[in-house]
Amino acid sequence: MTLNRLELDFFRNYLHAEAAFSTGVNVILGENAQGKTNLLEAVAYLSGAGSHRARYDRELIQFGVDHAFLKGEVFSRERNFVLEAKLHRGARRDLFSNGVRLKRSAELGEVFNTILFCPEDLSLIRSGAAERRGFLDDAICQLRPKYAAAVAEYRKLYEEKTRILRDWEEKPSLLDTLDDFNLRMAQVGAVIIRYRAHFVRRLAQMTPPIQADFSGGRETLSLRYETVSTVTDPEAGSKDILEELLQHQQSHRQAELDARQCLSGPHKDDLVVEIDGKSAKQYASQGQTRTAALSLKLACRELFREDTGEWPVLLLDDVLSELDTRRQSFVLERIDGGQVFISCCEEDKGIPNSGKRFLVKDGKLG
Ligand SMILES: Nc1ncnc2c1ncn2[C@@H]1O[C@H](COP(=O)(O)OP(=O)(O)O)[C@@H](O)[C@H]1O
Ligand SMILES: [Mg+2]
Repeated sequence: MTLNRLELDFFRNYLHAEAAFSTGVNVILGENAQGKTNLLEAVAYLSGAGSHRARYDRELIQFGVDHAFLKGEVFSRERNFVLEAKLHRGARRDLFSNGVRLKRSAELGEVFNTILFCPEDLSLIRSGAAERRGFLDDAICQLRPKYAAAVAEYRKLYEEKTRILRDWEEKPSLLDTLDDFNLRMAQVGAVIIRYRAHFVRRLAQMTPPIQADFSGGRETLSLRYETVSTVTDPEAGSKDILEELLQHQQSHRQAELDARQCLSGPHKDDLVVEIDGKSAKQYASQGQTRTAALSLKLACRELFREDTGEWPVLLLDDVLSELDTRRQSFVLERIDGGQVFISCCEEDKGIPNSGKRFLVKDGKLG
């Protein structure tokens, strides 16, 4: 799939911008704070109405203006789509595909998918489990709508149960519904665990060769899925997992009431990343961390292609310049095939020679 044209009005520091892109490599050049990341953020927004660095849509709207507009012409599944987003300060956004209003932002992801890699992604390796769960959830949601629905339901149940556990002493009647919530959470949790386990198994096959190539064969990466301790086989049937989750809940029931928070369930899952048998979170160097995070993202891109037959659009924000020449050429070879947007500072070494070039200056795209 490719983004062939993009039009922006009042998006971040772009008053108005229009561009036609290459279906291969697009190099976005510019000095700091000119709008390179903003441009990639706009592209990513069209794939799911989210942003890696904005919590609210209003942050994306130009200062002092009340609305913003994004329009992308996408080629995907052998068809053309026009995707549009209208953002309003103080009201919900409107999303359209070929002029038809979309009910859910996830519908954008049924047409257009992106994988972004940016310097902040080092936290994928370094931070707590929540980052890695988020990474897994994003990747699986793009591939499996049923998983997205399960994650959304689980989040609601979790919030409800958290409220029960927080307030039960003041309002003991809340406990009447606790068993129902526990059962439903275990049912949905079992679905989530199976999807995650299956995805991690494939990711664990796809990622190590990428990391090995990256490091010239010097580093061995391994991935492991960590979930609720009573689950013996996370890829087993949902019924088996359900039993094991209920068992764990039961043994933590009193502890949850005492702690007044949810202690049992896949909301604590982790993706354990090890390099040469040691925890990457604790021991990896800056360089190893960067390579491991990038290997994970590239592996997701390749899994996506395996499942759908299409390359998602790859967005590399300010990361190429951080790599040495050998690793840069490895990345450029590895990503050959799909469409990619690469942002770099003008003075960076190792800017790719190939592809179409754009210069970003003060919110203008040339
Ligand atoms: N909502 C907004 N309205 C106007 N300008 C914005 C908005 N959000 C960010 N900016 C501006 O965009 C610039 C940063 O752009 P960015 O794409 O991050 O730069 P870079 O080229 O370094 O990646 C900053 O000057 C910032 O003030
Ligand atoms: Mg930037």
